[in-house]
Amino acid sequence: MTKEEARPFDTGRFREVLGHFATGVTVVTAMDGDEPVGFTCQSFGSLSLEPPMVVLAPGKLSTSWPRIARVGQFCVNILSEDQEALSRDFSRSGGDKFAGVLWTPVGNGAPLLDGALAWVQCRFVEAHDAGDHELVVGLVEDMGANSHRRPLLFYRGGFGRFEP
Ligand SMILES: Cc1cc2nc3c(=O)[nH]c(=O)nc-3n(C[C@H](O)[C@H](O)[C@H](O)COP(=O)(O)O)c2cc1C
Repeated sequence: MTKEEARPFDTGRFREVLGHFATGVTVVTAMDGDEPVGFTCQSFGSLSLEPPMVVLAPGKLSTSWPRIARVGQFCVNILSEDQEALSRDFSRSGGDKFAGVLWTPVGNGAPLLDGALAWVQCRFVEAHDAGDHELVVGLVEDMGANSHRRPLLFYRGGFGRFEP
């Protein structure tokens, strides 16, 4: 066995290197009965045009995602540059994340957070086991954007703004 094979995989380095891929930030929401539920999610992207589908990767430790999956329909809120605090609040497990948060329901009832840059209303299609996360496919049913706003970005473990 060579030295390389023996060395354990450096997950810290992996995080550090992958952190160089700058992304937007989303909050995935749903209505679980009459209770809104949501969590911050960076691993989001478009998957297919026809049919229109998106992909996201919730972690297996998330307590919000299993509830959203059970509801079977959700909204991906793409955050705008002044929603960093909201992104941090929705990244904490437990507690009432929606306390004091203004929102309106999209067509499937899921919360659209006031001030969001854009949103995508989805129906849950399937989830694939993927290590310590799941790979989730959502079918897009409706969407909207507030193009006069700018995105909240996440890069190397920190939040940033987009300067055209
Ligand atoms: C900027 C940022 C990006 C995140 N991206 C993800 C992600 O892609 N997938 C995920 O499962 N958790 C992600 N998290 C962590 C979740 O938001 C956090 O684990 C979750 O909100 C825990 O709450 P829950 O138990 O209510 O699900 C991210 C957190 C932050 C601050």
